[in-house]
Amino acid sequence: MIKKYTYGTPFPTESVTEPFAASEGMPEFGDIHLQEGFSFTYKLRDEDVVYGLGEANRGINKRGYQYISNNSDNPHHHEDVYSLYAAHNFIIVSGEQTFGLYFDYPSTLTFDVGYTRSDELHIFCERADLDLYVITGEKPYDITKQFRKMIGRSYIAPKFAFGFGQSRWGYKTPEDFVAVAEKYRENHIPIDMVYMDIDYMDNYKDFTVNEEFRDFPQYVENLKKDHIRLVPIIDAGVKIEEGYDVYEEGVEKNYFCKRQDGSDFVAAVWPGYTHFPDVLNPDARKWFGEKYKRLTDAGIEGFWNDMNEPAIFFTPEGVKDVKEAMKAFIDKEETVQDVWAIRAQVTGLANNAEDYASMYHNVDGKMVRHDQVHNLFGYNMTRAAGEGLREISPDKRCLLFSRSSYIGMHRYGGIWTGDNKSWWSHILLNLKMLPSLNMCGFLYTGADLGGFGCNTTRDLLLRWLALGVFTPLMRDHSCENTREQECYQFEHIEDFRHIIGVRYRLIPYIYSEYMKAALTDDMMFKPLAFEYPEDRMAVNVEDQLMLGNEIMIAPVYTQNAIGRYVYLPEAMMLVRFCPDGKIEQTEMPKGHHFVEVPLNEVILFIRQGKCIPLVDAAECVDEIDMDSLQLIGYANSTYQLYDDDGYTRAYDLEKSTVWLKKEENK
Ligand code: GLC
Repeated sequence: MIKKYTYGTPFPTESVTEPFAASEGMPEFGDIHLQEGFSFTYKLRDEDVVYGLGEANRGINKRGYQYISNNSDNPHHHEDVYSLYAAHNFIIVSGEQTFGLYFDYPSTLTFDVGYTRSDELHIFCERADLDLYVITGEKPYDITKQFRKMIGRSYIAPKFAFGFGQSRWGYKTPEDFVAVAEKYRENHIPIDMVYMDIDYMDNYKDFTVNEEFRDFPQYVENLKKDHIRLVPIIDAGVKIEEGYDVYEEGVEKNYFCKRQDGSDFVAAVWPGYTHFPDVLNPDARKWFGEKYKRLTDAGIEGFWNDMNEPAIFFTPEGVKDVKEAMKAFIDKEETVQDVWAIRAQVTGLANNAEDYASMYHNVDGKMVRHDQVHNLFGYNMTRAAGEGLREISPDKRCLLFSRSSYIGMHRYGGIWTGDNKSWWSHILLNLKMLPSLNMCGFLYTGADLGGFGCNTTRDLLLRWLALGVFTPLMRDHSCENTREQECYQFEHIEDFRHIIGVRYRLIPYIYSEYMKAALTDDMMFKPLAFEYPEDRMAVNVEDQLMLGNEIMIAPVYTQNAIGRYVYLPEAMMLVRFCPDGKIEQTEMPKGHHFVEVPLNEVILFIRQGKCIPLVDAAECVDEIDMDSLQLIGYANSTYQLYDDDGYTRAYDLEKSTVWLKKEENK
């Protein structure tokens, strides 16, 4: 059951698609105070577990820390960071009383989950203008399903997007991208996508391609003949440059965000000074979305939207203040404090709250200050693209994912989890976010495998790929000036070929589970607690996940480990993908086990009485041979396989589903 409570005048975020009448009175759980802003408090019992918050730091159980919804371009995801790129304000308290809360509020919102006081959940924001949805149900899983239904169906990616992709900030010339494609093909490491980071553009101007590419449609086509799709990046800021039509049109039509005085708001990002498209204005959104056609006309079938918190390196106003402060500083005999203050002022230029408070949107003719709706920007930029792409090709799916997001954006695209690092702890963080993201509707998702920042190592990349084998978005991406981390850069390339090959063998299963989850508003990745709520050990597990209805995954995430401990909440079949292509299946009893996992192997566990489909390895999604499909797992079990053409939008669960039966051990 869902009840909606409205406080003040909420901004219409359009995150919820089902209509709900507002309830009178107070919610049945917690205390609400409206004296200074909005505040919700609830007394946590010792046994209570708190789930949710989508793309957020720390554990699957969110207890014991604080999380702030304030979409931030912060590439340092240390353990103490409160805000990442997204605002996913849905949480569930599970315990003596079990309920879900969704705070539909587009500005800064703090979730103090037993941080200030370990027995108190305190959620608060500055203005009491929001919708609060209170969802009750038997168990967290059931509450999640109700929530997912009320926010509408998740974005569905084309099937090729379930292949492996290689990316790096640093590929510049047409030859660079082709070289990556060729090296993967030469080494027979499967691949479907090569991503184009900002350097493919002409001076970082959105929807342009630099002239070195000459005949870009032909270039795209040539790679496609080799079953490789190019996926370009689109940034939020539109470069200010005379003669650049997107800039000129935007200015002329008043489609850019404004300053208070009505002039176009200026912020520096990669291209230098830019304007931000006012994606909260439906006309501007439509206009920006249509621009993607320039690239789809060239044969492009996928995009990643970036810098859309929106990230601001600095504004002219901020720089002016710094320069003035510097003048004063130069003439002073400096103290330690003076030096630190000037340094802080320079670093404080980026993503500065004052800048966000001096930018405005045009919403139905009214000026809305950006900081009051900040968390909606990435959502609406990707909505612009999603709606635009639907207009451009009504029948065909397009790959689309974003860095910044808010709940509601899950209907238009997926997300990648931004600039992580080549740290072992970030493999685990990647894993922990998956179920929370699914709770909030984000199914097409993944992290930069191998790590974006810092120098990777061969073993880190292999272990991370062994988790990436299971995530819908499987992409190796890295930052410029870091160690090159394409799979062919390392010794024993066959290990990479094997691990990514396992992904391709599993695509029928991964795609089927993804599609079923998307079409029935379900989760693809679940915490063990959602399947085994009565099992105290299972509820405690933070480094294993259920994937679909059949399997459990338990990747290795520590360096030099020969394997790891795994908890089996019931007897399961350990499946080991050996480097020689053999598959070993061993039944294991419920309980704790140490499982050895060499660097070049992938393991998974099939639940009792179940089986999964497996095909022969292929080098691209187009070449997957469904005739080679076999079932592995328990004898006399069945599997509901979803499959379709992989690109049309006419989904039909019933028509596209068949029941497969695994006979006696065959
Ligand atoms: C941002 C993105 C990253 C990209 C870089 C350059 O940091 O998060 O993925 O490589 O910008 O475009």
